[in-house]
Amino acid sequence: MSERLRPILKWAGGKRSLAERILKELPAQIETYYEPFVGGAAVFLALAEQKRFGRAVITDKNRELINLYTVVRDDLVKLLKKLESMQELTREEEYYEIRAQKGGTKIERAARFIYLNKTGYNGLYRVNSKGGFNVPYGRYKRPKIYDPERLTIAAVALQGVTIEVRDFEEVCAEAKRGDAVYLDPPYLPLSKTASFSAYHSEAFGLPEHERLAKVFAKLSKRHVAAVLSNSATPDTRRLYQNFKCSDVYVRRPINSVASRRGAVSELLVVSK
Ligand SMILES: C[S@@+](CC[C@H](N)C(=O)[O-])C[C@H]1O[C@@H](n2cnc3c(N)ncnc32)[C@H](O)[C@@H]1O
Repeated sequence: MSERLRPILKWAGGKRSLAERILKELPAQIETYYEPFVGGAAVFLALAEQKRFGRAVITDKNRELINLYTVVRDDLVKLLKKLESMQELTREEEYYEIRAQKGGTKIERAARFIYLNKTGYNGLYRVNSKGGFNVPYGRYKRPKIYDPERLTIAAVALQGVTIEVRDFEEVCAEAKRGDAVYLDPPYLPLSKTASFSAYHSEAFGLPEHERLAKVFAKLSKRHVAAVLSNSATPDTRRLYQNFKCSDVYVRRPINSVASRRGAVSELLVVSK
């Protein structure tokens, strides 16, 4: 993937290192491209760079994330101004002060999202049961909070893109033949003891994965090109046994346990 269109966030499960492999599985020309678990948007940005789609719809359940992409698309200048004013506030006590702030305008919320992503521990997004962001300070020397070049490139890619808070099932129902969907849900944990990833306050457990597998089968039936990533577990292999499944190796830079940051195998499912 080129250095030009890099994701604007650090995101758990970010697909930068796998983007090329995923792009190979998607059609050369896509009418409408859907990314219903958009997260760090690595695949969307890579496809945009190659001008592979006519239209794009990127959605996620995380409201603050969707607010950020909307502000990057529509209010870049105001967002950059706010980020510039925050770029020196990187001491621990300043981080906790900003972390405690609630509400504000959509520009303030978007700037805070980027600030917390770059300054907090490992770029994690974690909220408590009341929805309060609770990631500790990251201790980075010079976190890149103000990055006009990267944000401007992303803003150009986002022009004309539909960006909404939606559940994956509802948005997938709109895709037609000629369209393509890339699905990158919160992964099914490798073991029962492995901590599940809470990107937003609801967990994404086996029942959600079963619902997703049904959505995937429906997309395939309607001849929509669908590609899905997941962890390689007996459950995920069973859920997608009727589709082409490949084991792919991926570097995992975001893991709270340093020794688990190495290469792990995950599943890539294609609807052909
Ligand atoms: C693994 S991350 C996506 C990573 C992303 N593709 C990237 O490259 O960085 C999963 C995303 O799914 C979102 N999510 C969780 N449950 C959802 C649901 N029911 N519908 C839509 N999005 C959901 C989370 O907010 C999170 O952003």
